[in-house]
Amino acid sequence: MQRLDRFLSEAGVESRRKLKDVIRSGRLTVNGAVCTAPDQKIDEKTAVIKLDGQVIGRGAKRIVVMMHKPAGCVTAATDDRYPTVMEHLPPEYRRLMPIGRLDMETEGLLLFTNDGDLAHRLISPKHGVEKSYYAEHAGTADADDVAAFAAGCVLKDGTKCLPAVLEPLGEGKSLVRVREGKYHQVRRMLASRGKPVSYLRRISEGSLELGDLPIGMTRELTDLEIEQLESVDFDEKFFKEN
Ligand code: URA
Repeated sequence: MQRLDRFLSEAGVESRRKLKDVIRSGRLTVNGAVCTAPDQKIDEKTAVIKLDGQVIGRGAKRIVVMMHKPAGCVTAATDDRYPTVMEHLPPEYRRLMPIGRLDMETEGLLLFTNDGDLAHRLISPKHGVEKSYYAEHAGTADADDVAAFAAGCVLKDGTKCLPAVLEPLGEGKSLVRVREGKYHQVRRMLASRGKPVSYLRRISEGSLELGDLPIGMTRELTDLEIEQLESVDFDEKFFKEN
């Protein structure tokens, strides 16, 4: 059993702030009855929950959408100051929640879903899903930088990162593979080695590659891609490669 507001938040129905208003507005039904109590307990495995008549959560078709996020927008449902990634989503996908975040100036692979479990799995440090990034930065990465990443970078504020993979690609370019998602992590890791980042693009997440999806565009994942995304044993993969 789960609280209704928690269920809705995990299903990405609205931002947490707006959730109470949505519930109190009477637009929600649980097993056919209008429900206005955020703390109502529901059986998330069997309950049929609808918002404006549309099934949400488990009963609904699971959707995962990949976006090639452009720079210049924030990963948020709404923002008072900056454009959001939602503005690049076709209207039929605007109820989905972003899985994790990319910084305002970072481009690349960003996923959206209505499946709270999948989102949790991809974000949770417990599963250590690997994400890889192409970075352009000052200087040229060398063997000492590779060793520092492998040992776990210590950021300028003293934060210790998990072991990560740095692959130098020649002058001012590197590939970075991490399995956690601290604030501005890749930028801060490279900055801790004296190599501030000027351009960053996420190119893969778990089994998924950004490929040649044009910048600013989205596409729905196939059922097979979604199954692969859920079923890779991420920890094992990471440790084998290290
Ligand atoms: N690391 C960063 O520095 N920024 C991102 O957006 C993602 C990872």
